[in-house]
Amino acid sequence: MTHRTVSYPQEPFQATVAVPGDKSLSHRALILGAMAAGRSRAIGLAPGADVAATVAALRALGVGVDAGWIDSPGVEGWSDPGAPLDCGNSGTTMRLLAGALAGRSFASTLTGDASLLARPMRRLVGPLGALGAMVTVAEPAGTPPVTVYPVPRLHGATVAIDLASAQLRTAVALAAMQAEGATVIAGPVGYRDHTERWLEALGRGAPHGADGFRIDPGPLPIAEYRIPGDPSSAAVLWAMAALRRGSAVTTPGVSLNPGRIGFLQILERFGAVISAEVTGSVLGDPVGTVTVTGGGLFGLEVPESLAAATLDELILVGVLGALAEGMTVVRGAAELRTKESDRIAGTVDLIRRLGGGAEATEDGFAVVGMGELDPGAVRSRGDHRLAMAAAVAAVAVDGAVVIEDADAVSVSWPGFYEVMERLWS
Ligand code: S3P
Repeated sequence: MTHRTVSYPQEPFQATVAVPGDKSLSHRALILGAMAAGRSRAIGLAPGADVAATVAALRALGVGVDAGWIDSPGVEGWSDPGAPLDCGNSGTTMRLLAGALAGRSFASTLTGDASLLARPMRRLVGPLGALGAMVTVAEPAGTPPVTVYPVPRLHGATVAIDLASAQLRTAVALAAMQAEGATVIAGPVGYRDHTERWLEALGRGAPHGADGFRIDPGPLPIAEYRIPGDPSSAAVLWAMAALRRGSAVTTPGVSLNPGRIGFLQILERFGAVISAEVTGSVLGDPVGTVTVTGGGLFGLEVPESLAAATLDELILVGVLGALAEGMTVVRGAAELRTKESDRIAGTVDLIRRLGGGAEATEDGFAVVGMGELDPGAVRSRGDHRLAMAAAVAAVAVDGAVVIEDADAVSVSWPGFYEVMERLWS
């Protein structure tokens, strides 16, 4: 386990940073490319270990993946990997592949590292089962390994999902494309709808009613997927700029999917100045440039309606809350307990270890804004987003923050600390 001591200049910074490719879209580009027969291409794939786990799993299924080129016989031609597919730390790899594999004529088992082996997978069983898929998880915990058994044929259905989970909806969509008859997936909105937008552009579905999407089964065409920058990585820089008057950061070419940018709305309420301009789109999914300029920081109650669209950034909300004036409260985010770590416990612990005041609740946390944090040592708990949030806290600390298990960042952003150090140069 590597520890890292981070400390940053106490002056504001101005920078323009091209952040790594989006992790969510990279998994989707690889899997959709691998489901199409022929040669697809993904340009600008995310560099981290999570996406590498998806690449390795697809190769084990007989798909060629090399330098962004995806050569596949099509999902019907995927071959039995003959061994469990190791999804590493990546919940997205596991859940998306469970859906894609549901229509295969061989059984597959999906496993992962210690963190992934503790994450909830039973949520896959009912929705995929509604299409006739047979999926099992370890009982009684409902955790991996996930085993997907062959069934004679998947059938279309109306599937109601009670979580605003993009992974779950995507798993169902990938299975539904291989089914006989159309499927309608319905459930709470606010999640990142990347998959739906891309499938609509590829001719395999369309929005259906207020909260639904219809999948029209059939083969996927080959495609070129241009992966935009990851707004969850950019969010770390946005938070660093927001916490100091006079700082500003511009991140060009990031995904501006509405399900990804709740944090920008929250930053604005904190007191930062935001400019977000859509400059284009990839297969119907908006991309653009964001500039965040530091203003004051005033605590806020985060509206529950923003929780799904801010899910991966709520740790940053906690850290900024500790540096703000007044209380910051997050509710309706119980899903944070089931991410790469229990992020409610992790956020509260991180803030307290730096001298701040925070309390966990069942579905969120409350943070006392004291305007400052102290030097100290914090734990990443092997969670990339906690490690990066610690670096954000370090920007406000007069002194150093020691991050235990700092290398956790390599899941989504290898080279993260080096980029942060260059912000002031
Ligand atoms: C993701 C969806 C979210 C998010 C995760 C990536 C995706 O999870 O937290 O980091 O790529 O679909 P849920 O679908 O569990 O909400």
